[in-house]
Amino acid sequence: MNLKECTVVASGKMRQCAYDKLNDAVRMIGWQQGGRMPQEQFEAALVEADALYSTGNLRIDEALLAKAPKLKVIAQASVGYDNIDVAACAARGVVVGNTPGVLVDAVADWAYALILDSARNLVKAAAHVKSGLWGQRKPFGLTTDLAGKTLGIIGMGDIGSAVARRAQASKMRVIYHNRRQRGDDGQLGVKYFSLDDLLRQADFILLAVTLNPSTKKMIDAQALAKCKPGARLINISRGGVVDTEALYDALQSGRLAYAALDVTDPEPLPGEHKLLTLSNVTVTPHVASATAETRDAMALLTVENIFAGLQGKPLPAQVR
Ligand code: DGY
Repeated sequence: MNLKECTVVASGKMRQCAYDKLNDAVRMIGWQQGGRMPQEQFEAALVEADALYSTGNLRIDEALLAKAPKLKVIAQASVGYDNIDVAACAARGVVVGNTPGVLVDAVADWAYALILDSARNLVKAAAHVKSGLWGQRKPFGLTTDLAGKTLGIIGMGDIGSAVARRAQASKMRVIYHNRRQRGDDGQLGVKYFSLDDLLRQADFILLAVTLNPSTKKMIDAQALAKCKPGARLINISRGGVVDTEALYDALQSGRLAYAALDVTDPEPLPGEHKLLTLSNVTVTPHVASATAETRDAMALLTVENIFAGLQGKPLPAQVR
């Protein structure tokens, strides 16, 4: 298909490098003003769309697909794609792309920062100084070492492995749980555990799984009751993996010492949400991959996925 004759629609603001590249090659209907394209305008654009550049904050289901009769490819600028009904896309012959790989280090760095914060109260300590209280009694006691502690990673893919390496540099022991045991445990210096055993042994639990029916609310009241008393929970996957009510109860009762979350359910988390009233929680606004370099790389991979899909080639990063 001649790219010049193709229409690509973007649901929201994209990195300028991606916009420019697409704009040079195809007919682009974009929305570079921030937020989402107004719904009416978006639906009118969908009628003409050969490809959709999804910025991720959009439910892509049969109802949306029915409004896009020419659509051949959906490329989402994220690794997670739980907002997309992939089966409905496949039934209509629409291929779906995402952006694994290019965000691994940025997300692993943020996960590691959250692990560190959950142990050392970095965010609170900085806020203490900014509020002019240096020299007065600290609003928290002594913190705890990472060295010698056990990090349990649930979802040991590329990001999980990258966090494992960072944790090992802090002299942590790393255990993990996956649907299937990996073949390279020895090489990575990690050990496979059943989910229950991981929950019982880990001092720090990192969630790095994708959100799907089998992981939805996998960390519920029952799972939290199995955790080591005083364990810390870090989530950089999707908020829906955790039952928020159960998490609140576990933090309030002190069963969990701390939660450091880049993702929440609901998301965005309203400023008045009860989770934010707790002193043993750090929440960041789903920014683990948000570095300029990584967001550019994600955007450019999304463009490559679109070009390949429009030309009927396998996508460089295709969701299967
Ligand atoms: C992703 O790519 O799915 C991340 O959650 C974005 O930060």
